[in-house]
Amino acid sequence: MPDIRSLDYDVVVIGAGGAGLRAAIEASAQKAKVALVCKSLLGKAHTVMAEGGAAAALGNVFPEDNWRVHFRDTMRGGKMHNNWRMAQIHAQEAPDRINELEAWGALFDRTVDGKINQRPFGGHTYSRLAHVGDRTGLEMIRVLQDKGVHSGIDVHMECTIVKVFVVGGKIAGALGYFRETGRFVLFKSGAIVLATGGIGKAWQITSNSWEYTGDGHALAYEAGAELIDMEFVQFHPTGMVWPPSVRGILVTEGVRGEGGVLKNNEGERFMFRYMPDMFKGDYAETEAESDAWVKGDRKKNRRPPELLTRDVVAKAITKEIAEGRGTEHGGVILDIASKQSPDYIKKKLPSMYHQFKELAHVDITKDPMEIGPTTHYVMGGVKVDAETQESTVPGLYAAGEVGGGMHGANRLGGNSLSDLLVFGRRAGQFAASKRGPAPKIPDSEVERAMHEALAPFDREGENPYAVQSALQAIMQRDAGIIRDKAGLERALQALDTLATRARAVGVTGSREYNPGWHTAIDLQSLLVVSEATARAALERTESRGGHTRSDYPDSDEKQAREQIVIKKEGDRMVVRREAQPPIPAELLALIKEGK
Ligand code: FUM
Repeated sequence: MPDIRSLDYDVVVIGAGGAGLRAAIEASAQKAKVALVCKSLLGKAHTVMAEGGAAAALGNVFPEDNWRVHFRDTMRGGKMHNNWRMAQIHAQEAPDRINELEAWGALFDRTVDGKINQRPFGGHTYSRLAHVGDRTGLEMIRVLQDKGVHSGIDVHMECTIVKVFVVGGKIAGALGYFRETGRFVLFKSGAIVLATGGIGKAWQITSNSWEYTGDGHALAYEAGAELIDMEFVQFHPTGMVWPPSVRGILVTEGVRGEGGVLKNNEGERFMFRYMPDMFKGDYAETEAESDAWVKGDRKKNRRPPELLTRDVVAKAITKEIAEGRGTEHGGVILDIASKQSPDYIKKKLPSMYHQFKELAHVDITKDPMEIGPTTHYVMGGVKVDAETQESTVPGLYAAGEVGGGMHGANRLGGNSLSDLLVFGRRAGQFAASKRGPAPKIPDSEVERAMHEALAPFDREGENPYAVQSALQAIMQRDAGIIRDKAGLERALQALDTLATRARAVGVTGSREYNPGWHTAIDLQSLLVVSEATARAALERTESRGGHTRSDYPDSDEKQAREQIVIKKEGDRMVVRREAQPPIPAELLALIKEGK
């Protein structure tokens, strides 16, 4: 075939954030020939948006912490919907992964006695987040990138994958194009690890940058893999709201971890009013008690209610705003200036200090911040085996945000960084063990995929950006923090119309660095993940974690362990319910022990 480069690998890793890098490092350590493909430049990944830290029960600040407590917190935070085995593996292996990262050169903040310091975060019983100020994800990427490029992996930057090939029921390779030249590349491999991150760009207000259009979710779906839990989207409680150009940029949970408090426009610390029964007794009930925790002994006092799980805090903020107690720009107040000294704030939250100074002209050491929820993370993703991360398609693996199950209905802050280390490593290890000759991909299939990718050049259709922005508006309005049947049905109908419009978009110019063309291609993934989210949200007739139905405001324990599974059958997206395996009795007892 003309106009295409063809490359053979044992393992192809798609996505070069923390999970992709860790998978590539591991596969390479198993002597596999590895390609690491990134849509953007190496090092630019949503991993850096996990600013506040990586959760691991190291026990450095609270020696009583251990994997069992971390497992319990993760299951309770996930509203008991998590894949219990993934939550167990994660809690057990996270400390080793953090120590390993330190051995590879990560410079974590230290305790006074020289151990890796750990900070508190929402839903974690003990201070558990290993951190580097408020730049933890950035440090993690720096170290993994450094390790990765010295491991002999081939890095293919600014390369978008448009198709994963399955031949005879097995993974055979992937087709991509280089954004710079528009030239195609065929990666032939019997083992592919998806590590493409999330789907945040399907909403208007998001902490995600342009890359996060659900590519891995859509590639897996098109390849015949199953998606689970797509209704569970995490709206991080604190994104910037003003000025409009920075709306959605993340304000780390570390601000609340370091003592920041939330107030409405009446000056009330409203989180005291939003304590769920599940967490009663675990959190401070008065301002004085909360202040004592911030300034005094964290072992003797209970945590502030601002450190409730993200689903609870985001919903509380949304309610305050909806009931007219929000700020002028549609947010609420986050105040750390009245709780910590300027020096402390600058030391522990340097990025937040600069972010607000430069983007909003706010000095957070003196003045409060205006914040509101922002789409941050999807708990749902490709259904994988807990031990190996292999999907239901042999040879296709998924790790990090694109994998589903680990976080249940709501992810605890800091669990994503440890998740991507733990499961990135496992995915790389098992993918490498699959090495062997890949099935041959028929030329006709490759040609068809290239033809489909180039089709927008042959049409004089609508601008793809118009379709993308209509999609984001629909998802923001009808599949946001609070949903209902009417809104979700409206969203599905509108998405159907958008799918027709997307098939007719046209682009002009050449294939070299053509952002209109890139958007036309991204639209295909955005439509798949948006429809999957809306269908799963319609199917789940209860409220749980990140999924809130105003027409079903309560949790229904019968649905707690039921999973909404999405699969492509013919041209249709089919939805079904499936019971998850029961949680073993000893682990169930462990979860209940805390209450
Ligand atoms: O708020 C944060 O620093 C984000 C952390 C995370 O998503 O895990």
